[in-house]
Amino acid sequence: EKSGYDHFMLKEIMEQPTSLSDSMRGRLLPEDPRVVLGGLHTVWDQLVDADRIIIAACGTSWHSALVGEYLIESFARIPVEVEYASEFRYRNPILRDGDVVVVISQSGETADTLAAVREARKKGVLCLGICNVVGSTIARETDAGVYLHAGPEIGVASTKAFTAQVTVLAMIALKLAENRTLSTGEMAHNLHALASIPDKVDEVLDMNDEIREMASVYRYASNFLYLGRGYNFPVALEGALKLKEISYIHAEGYPAAEMKHGPIALIDRFMPVVFIAMKDSTYDKVVSNIEEVVARDGSVIAITDEGNGELDKLCEYVLRIPKTEEFLSPLLTVVPLQLLSYHIAVMRGCHVDQPRNLAKSVTVE
Ligand code: M6R
Repeated sequence: EKSGYDHFMLKEIMEQPTSLSDSMRGRLLPEDPRVVLGGLHTVWDQLVDADRIIIAACGTSWHSALVGEYLIESFARIPVEVEYASEFRYRNPILRDGDVVVVISQSGETADTLAAVREARKKGVLCLGICNVVGSTIARETDAGVYLHAGPEIGVASTKAFTAQVTVLAMIALKLAENRTLSTGEMAHNLHALASIPDKVDEVLDMNDEIREMASVYRYASNFLYLGRGYNFPVALEGALKLKEISYIHAEGYPAAEMKHGPIALIDRFMPVVFIAMKDSTYDKVVSNIEEVVARDGSVIAITDEGNGELDKLCEYVLRIPKTEEFLSPLLTVVPLQLLSYHIAVMRGCHVDQPRNLAKSVTVE
């Protein structure tokens, strides 16, 4: 069942080129250029006209929701708010005509996320679901939605569901951009860029041995910091969550610029800091953050673009991954972080697929 892998988590990380192609199949038509999302057909007009989109989710799904906020706001110019489902449902949230609630849940059974669906429906607001498990409670109780088609995710740590969620959110954002913010040429360009992601993920997976070696250096660390900006801020949060849940190492994710507002006090030679430093609109700022960490003896692991040698002198390790459009970079930058936490957890003798105190779906509130 694990197809020769030691753990489901590794199998699911390695499966991502396939799971991502499956998520896009029949939906992404770069030649047209167009996105087809059959599950949203009946509600599409309402979604296009939404005044505000509220995305509610938990854990890793909440991280993909944050990526979704950046995607939808930049491509559709519709205001988006991201909520922890557990907070949203108890706050008596203000929902108005023109609001659309979107929930994201791999399992489709998370109790807090289900409660958010019920709250939205009680208030008469359109509620859409992005789920992986077909026929799950959330999939059934939402008005409409999009399935991930990522295949079963067995490991407690969510990996291929995250990348499929971001892919589905990118398809929704690009479809919302139709006749709005993108010319036909730009649309075709972006759809082709998305279509080429599975091959690029494959290239990132080829770095597995290099990442395993790096993991052996950091396996005894007791704390980690993950920093990224823009589209890669949620990836920093996701990298930290992966590490803490399966290796039991304390880890924090922050938007890189927040470092100077507190976390910088933690930095010394025992603090590894993972930077997502892609050559994008905030690259120079992120490099200054790296310099600040290095000046305080922190040990830096950087993820950057293929061909970028500028960070070699500053950083302990530099992982170079294929270039893509900035808005698609989370689909690539998260993969080395998944592998890093996997290898560290294995080296520490942890139960990777079933970490202590955790369940695959959290059906209690
Ligand atoms: O099934 P869901 O997507 O609703 O699950 C939400 C979280 O419980 C889940 O993402 C959790 O944080 C994972 N263990 C993270 O790897």
